[in-house]
Amino acid sequence: MEKFLQLAMENKDYIIEMRRYLHQNPEPSEQEVNTCKKVCEELKKMGLEPKVVCSSQTGVMCDIKGSQPGKTIALRADMDALSVQELNDVCYKSTVDGLMHACGHDAHTATLLGAAKILSACKDDFKGTVRLLFQPAEETAYGAKAMIEAGCLDGVDATMGTHVNSSLESGKISVQAGPRLAAANWFKYRLIGKPGHGALPHQGIDAGLAACSAALNLQHLVSREFPSDKPLVITIGKIEAGTRFNVIAAEATLEGTVRCFDPDVFREVPDAMERVMKGIADAYRCQLVVEKAEPVTMPCYNPEIPAARAEKTVKKLFGDAGIGFAPAQMGGEDYSFMMDKIPDSVFAHIGTANPDKRTAEPHHSGHFNVDEDALPGASALYAQYAVDYLNE
Ligand code: NI
Repeated sequence: MEKFLQLAMENKDYIIEMRRYLHQNPEPSEQEVNTCKKVCEELKKMGLEPKVVCSSQTGVMCDIKGSQPGKTIALRADMDALSVQELNDVCYKSTVDGLMHACGHDAHTATLLGAAKILSACKDDFKGTVRLLFQPAEETAYGAKAMIEAGCLDGVDATMGTHVNSSLESGKISVQAGPRLAAANWFKYRLIGKPGHGALPHQGIDAGLAACSAALNLQHLVSREFPSDKPLVITIGKIEAGTRFNVIAAEATLEGTVRCFDPDVFREVPDAMERVMKGIADAYRCQLVVEKAEPVTMPCYNPEIPAARAEKTVKKLFGDAGIGFAPAQMGGEDYSFMMDKIPDSVFAHIGTANPDKRTAEPHHSGHFNVDEDALPGASALYAQYAVDYLNE
């Protein structure tokens, strides 16, 4: 057995103890005060010097320096829970009503603490610096950006992020190249017309009708303007217009989200949408107000080089059988902002699905749980990948 996997197995009880402590004590996004305190305490016990960062004061950054100078790699875990009621009947059940680690961020924090244990005991095994990043508020897409603003990626050459995956068999890890999770946008368009009597529409300007036309025409971008081999979703989840059945709607709003994997498509879609919206506003004699259209997440995309390096690491630790396949999903992940900033970045899916242990339930469900037997492997992956990169 590889040294780091051996060390991770020796720390299995510690990793599970941490995970269960965090699971019992979930905290919402940007309010990870106790979690942050616990992480700092644990790192100090290892002889490390964690720093509290972010405007929320709930992010933790901690460097582990190898015996010689070299490059810097950041390992990232998120720490926030979700407003979901836990439905699992386990001894480490959430003690907070209506709040639960229903996405496995407790496991991420625990496995990164496990990696910290391994790396702090093996400083002679690597040159350079491993930077641990425990970020707040992934669920609200605040944390990764806040960590970057706090300077956590300054001087960083490469990064790794992980996420447990309840659709991937426990014991498997997916690090494949290409799209992993989608870029996501939020937009709200206001069309402003002119009120009038429903019986005399020519006296008003019907923003409601313009909105109907916009909702249809925006979909044509997907089928006519963007390549069919690059999946794209434009969802208008909310349409509002008008005040009364016999009054011409003076105002209408369309609110929605764009999802896609391809960075070029992601950059081009908002401009194309705005062009369509301007054309429609013009054609229907309305004014257009674009209230907001900022990225919620960037594309989460594994480039070839770090994906190939991570594949070698997985095979070194677990053999060929350790490699799993996780299909790309249209969900978002704010680690994508770190990937965007540091191109040599990889996102790994850690399989935790085991139907016998009831850990194959969907993320964000009250029945979500992870197979804790898969957690030492995730710690070993963090540590081994960092060292493989630094000693390259
Ligand atoms: Ni998550």
